[in-house]
Amino acid sequence: MNYNHRRNANLQKTILNLTEKKSRAAVEAEIQERKRIGQELHDGLGQMLSVARLNISVLQQKAFLSEQRKKELLGAAIHSVDQAFYELRDISHNLTPSALTEKGFAGALKELADQINQSKHIKVQLEMYGLNGALDGIIENALYRAVQELLNNAIKHAHATTFFLQIIKSDNEITLMVEDNGKGFDMDNTFSMPGGGLYNLRSRVENLNGNIFIDAMKDRGTIVTIVISLIKTELKKT
Ligand SMILES: Nc1ncnc2c1ncn2[C@@H]1O[C@H](COP(=O)(O)OP(=O)(O)OP(=O)(O)O)[C@@H](O)[C@H]1O
Ligand SMILES: [Mg+2]
Repeated sequence: MNYNHRRNANLQKTILNLTEKKSRAAVEAEIQERKRIGQELHDGLGQMLSVARLNISVLQQKAFLSEQRKKELLGAAIHSVDQAFYELRDISHNLTPSALTEKGFAGALKELADQINQSKHIKVQLEMYGLNGALDGIIENALYRAVQELLNNAIKHAHATTFFLQIIKSDNEITLMVEDNGKGFDMDNTFSMPGGGLYNLRSRVENLNGNIFIDAMKDRGTIVTIVISLIKTELKKT
């Protein structure tokens, strides 16, 4: 695939598109993220705690219950609280991918690539340069989430058979480039889906004063490039 040629053809258009809705997108991404966390807390944790509460309140009201029944209700309440703990652990793991904390950025990416390669659906080729030492945690998190989303898209939409992932870190910036050999898409509406993966991804990147370029063309695969400066990492206050 001729990366430079395709990239130049679309870059101008993409940059124009991206700068238009910048700060608005950042705010919306934050709202979406809060909504998501709220839903997880509500649907997961909230539901289990209310079951626990129900069992405990029956115990409180019915003083004349048999010992056996009291034991059962208490057991059920404890079980629900235990489940709530598991749920809480899952939610917090989802917020900070456990692979990142356990293996570090490079290790987590390698593990992700290995896992996908084992499935044999798509061949992930991973190249990393200059990744010695930890990065800012927020940048690691954003880039890891970006890889997950882009890989997902390549599998789900592109039906790609190869996914090339390259990360290059220099003193000044970090560049992530992914390329799939799938069916590509018409870019016109790429970022017009609030709450969609690419829309959120762009907002996350822009929150870090980074840029994202998408070069997709029907029937010719997709290339996504993200560049984040490592110098001015101060978060936007929009
Ligand atoms: N690598 C790709 N190859 C082909 N089409 C893609 C690719 N990435 C995105 N698309 C197209 O762009 C659309 C928008 O992608 P986006 O990630 O924003 O949303 P989604 O994947 O449909 O939903 P979500 O990310 O919320 O699960 C997709 O529905 C798909 O049509
Ligand atoms: Mg998606």
